[in-house]
Amino acid sequence: ASIGTENIQRGAGGETHQGAGGDVPVLTTQQGTPVADDQNSLKAGARGPTLLEDFHFREKIFHFDHERIPERVVHARGYGAHGFFELTDSLSDVTRADVLQRPGERVPAFVRFSTVAGSKGSFDLARDVRGFAVKLYTKEGNWDIVGNNIPVFFIQDAIKFPDVIHSVKPEPDRDFPQAQSAHDNFWDFISLSPESVNMALWVMSDRALPRSFRFMEGFGVHTFRLVNAAGHSRFVKFHWKPKMGLQSVVWNEAVKINGADPDFHRRDLWNAIRSGNFPEWELGVQLFDDDFADSFDFDVLDATKLIPEELVPVRPVGRLVLDRMVDNFFAETEQVAFCTQNIVPGVDFTNDPLLQGRNFSYLDTQIKRLGSPNFTHIPINAPKCPFHNFQQDGHMAMHNPKGRANYEPNSWGGAQGGPREDAAKGFTTFPAQEDGAKTRMRSELFGDHYSQARQFYLSQTTTEQVHIQQAFTFELSKVETLAIRQRMVGHLIHVDHDLATAVAQGLGLDSLPDAPAPARPVLDGLPPSPALSILKN
Ligand code: HEM
Repeated sequence: ASIGTENIQRGAGGETHQGAGGDVPVLTTQQGTPVADDQNSLKAGARGPTLLEDFHFREKIFHFDHERIPERVVHARGYGAHGFFELTDSLSDVTRADVLQRPGERVPAFVRFSTVAGSKGSFDLARDVRGFAVKLYTKEGNWDIVGNNIPVFFIQDAIKFPDVIHSVKPEPDRDFPQAQSAHDNFWDFISLSPESVNMALWVMSDRALPRSFRFMEGFGVHTFRLVNAAGHSRFVKFHWKPKMGLQSVVWNEAVKINGADPDFHRRDLWNAIRSGNFPEWELGVQLFDDDFADSFDFDVLDATKLIPEELVPVRPVGRLVLDRMVDNFFAETEQVAFCTQNIVPGVDFTNDPLLQGRNFSYLDTQIKRLGSPNFTHIPINAPKCPFHNFQQDGHMAMHNPKGRANYEPNSWGGAQGGPREDAAKGFTTFPAQEDGAKTRMRSELFGDHYSQARQFYLSQTTTEQVHIQQAFTFELSKVETLAIRQRMVGHLIHVDHDLATAVAQGLGLDSLPDAPAPARPVLDGLPPSPALSILKN
């Protein structure tokens, strides 16, 4: 077989020239002009200065200079794959969403897994939350479930997102630390934000060190709404359950793997899919109504809480299979733009203040990251159903209205008038009753920060509990400020006394610090946490 060494000629300086011919196409500029010499710039004499008129040289360098775009402000390191979603159980009773009507029907899907804190070039096995972002290309437009592999979140209100992220990302003066180990700022923030304690438990657990993307759960985290054809709404939580179960590595392994193969997770997904070993997840929904929401000990609008599966079982309704790697990492995985506000008729938002903020943030950041409001023209972001609107122009616009109106209402009939509204098929917002004075107050119901953390810890096996103790001890041992260590251990007293004691001893504290007064009483005797399969190495 050809290895590309035909037609080799040496130039005057000994450089290699490879000629076109036969099946080998001619090298051209971006404008299509054939290139005679790609090894030498145009100079005034063999030893003279490079000439400005060398348009091939200038185009080549100019293009290279502009290869990078900003990495995502969070979740910068990720890896994506194509696949499909197939409905297995109709949800027509609870939603009018077309994609959830007919069992057996498939729609294309794209999924991007990610770490949160590390930069694009960081390592795969950081102790971190994993993003689990799913784009379903439905007949009614793109529906994105932009979730994580942990069912709860650090904060209750999106206004705190820049703070939690600043605290965990590299500091602006020194540009470290990365996500590998804890530092004062992150634990300072967590210890001053009791709402983060539940998520901190999950992040110190084996869940934060997945063996592979293929062995992770995914969660939509927020409570969303499903709305049926009659206009009746139910609350819903989305779950992705891996067919192969949950697996994690231990910290010791993670450290070694990061050193030996920082691309461990992406290599695993690439190899699995390329060898026909297609990972699969079950989509499950937890459905509940206003009565359940009112009777629940926690506010269903609080993203730091989950709904125990013992109280509301997860109903399996579909499967997600990843069966094709991307052809072009940049065009697809890097430029894909997930957004919580991408929903379809039959799905709706709730007043979760974290979700409401996310709905603003993603579109905003993507216009900067991808450079133009026309990022939906990039094939990975474009709907795979017909779409027509009155948008035009802007950077890289590809779909300007042609031969029809570009505004409405208009007097032009038929196709010339352009697309029209459809009150029956179109998205309508669920008319939830809202009635309240404007306020920045947080609901008192958001105030129990320890009960579910305790429930999670107690649901773990002894081995898993020891891993959590060790993770807290290791991470807090990197914190230099004694008061922050003590404050954090103080929170752990509310979670579990033995956990707090083990961490305090591991950190060499003289005694257990005082536990802060909880805003609401810590509940005991809750059902065990959901789907906590044993994590094996
Ligand atoms: C990116 C999940 C909260 C802002 C992402 C991604 C995921 C994710 C999976 C990566 C998307 C991709 O692969 O392209 C979550 C979850 C959250 C959460 C599950 C809480 C439940 C927030 C909040 C904000 C936010 C509260 C801001 C108010 C962003 C931004 C990006 C991002 C700006 C980068 C998007 C891009 O450049 O494409 N998030 N996030 N996230 N998230 Fe979140």
